[in-house]
Amino acid sequence: MNPNDVGAIRRYLLARQGCGMDVAYRVLGDAGAACAAEAAAVAGVLGGGVGPAAIGAPRRNERDIVMLTSPVVERKPGIRVTREPKPAEQASLFGEPAKKAGLDLSEYDLPKLDTLVSTCVRCRLAEGRTRTVFGSGDPHAKIIFIGEAPGREEDLQGLPFVGRAGQLLTKMLAAIGFSRDEVYITNILKCRPPNNREPQEDEMAACEPYLLRQLELINPVIICALGRIAAHGLLKKPTALSILRQGVHYYNDIPVVVVYHPAALLRNPNLKRDAWEDLKMVRKLYDEAIGEGA
Ligand code: URA
Repeated sequence: MNPNDVGAIRRYLLARQGCGMDVAYRVLGDAGAACAAEAAAVAGVLGGGVGPAAIGAPRRNERDIVMLTSPVVERKPGIRVTREPKPAEQASLFGEPAKKAGLDLSEYDLPKLDTLVSTCVRCRLAEGRTRTVFGSGDPHAKIIFIGEAPGREEDLQGLPFVGRAGQLLTKMLAAIGFSRDEVYITNILKCRPPNNREPQEDEMAACEPYLLRQLELINPVIICALGRIAAHGLLKKPTALSILRQGVHYYNDIPVVVVYHPAALLRNPNLKRDAWEDLKMVRKLYDEAIGEGA
C-alpha cells in the first residue's frame, strides 16, 4: 500500500477494525498514524488499548502481524503473515448453517445445547459413539481451542482432549499461561469417528450448527484451530497447514489462528520448535485482543 495514499489507508484501517490499530500503525508507518485516530473513531474501536495513545506509541517489540502486499508468503519465526482482510460484513451468520439444516438453536444455552447434542442422530457417527463430547472449560472464555473429533478416551469420558494428545494440550496451554479451566475446548465433531478416521465432509456439516451456536454463546475474541482438520472445517479452505499457520483468518468475524495439533507433535517432536512460536503468537494475539498487550 502506498503510505501517501490517505484514502487507501483509511479504507485499510476500517477494514481491519478490531484487529488492533497499533498493528495498522506499524504496517503503515507515520501516514497511518495520521489517519488512525479518525478511522478508529469512525469504526468505534477506541479503548481497550487501541486508542490514539497506543497508536502513536509503537511498542518496543517488533510487530508480529504483517499485511503482505506482495504475493510472496515467507515464514519467519514469530511472524504471522496474512493477506486476508477482516470480513466487512458484520451481520451474524451464526445461525445460517442451522437454518439451512432446519434447526433453530437460537433459544439454546450451552447446557441445553449439550443435552440436545447428546441425543443427536444427524449423522452416522451417532451409531458408534459411547458418549457425545460437547466441550469443556469456561463458558465465558475469551479463547476457544477447537480440535478435530473425540478419540477413544474422549468417547468414553464425554470430555474433549483427555487422552495422550489432551495431556500434551494441557501442557501447551500451561506453557502460555492458560489453565484448562480458563479456556474453552471443543471439537469440530462431537462424536468419535470409527477407529479415529478423519471426519467426513457431511459429518462436519451436520455438526457445524452446534459449533456455531457454541461460538455465538461463548463469544471468544480468538479461536485457535488445532491442526489441519479443524482449520479446514472452520475455514473451508483446502490450503496446506504450513500456509494456514502463517495467517490470521476469520470464522464469522472471529480471528482464527491455526497451530499444530498436539497429536502431530507427539508423532513428530521436530515440530515442537515451530509449535512453540505459534503458541507464543496465540498468547500475544489474545493479550492484544483483550487489551493487555498494549
Ligand atoms: N481429542 C480430542 O478431543 N480432539 C482431538 O482432535 C484429538 C483428541
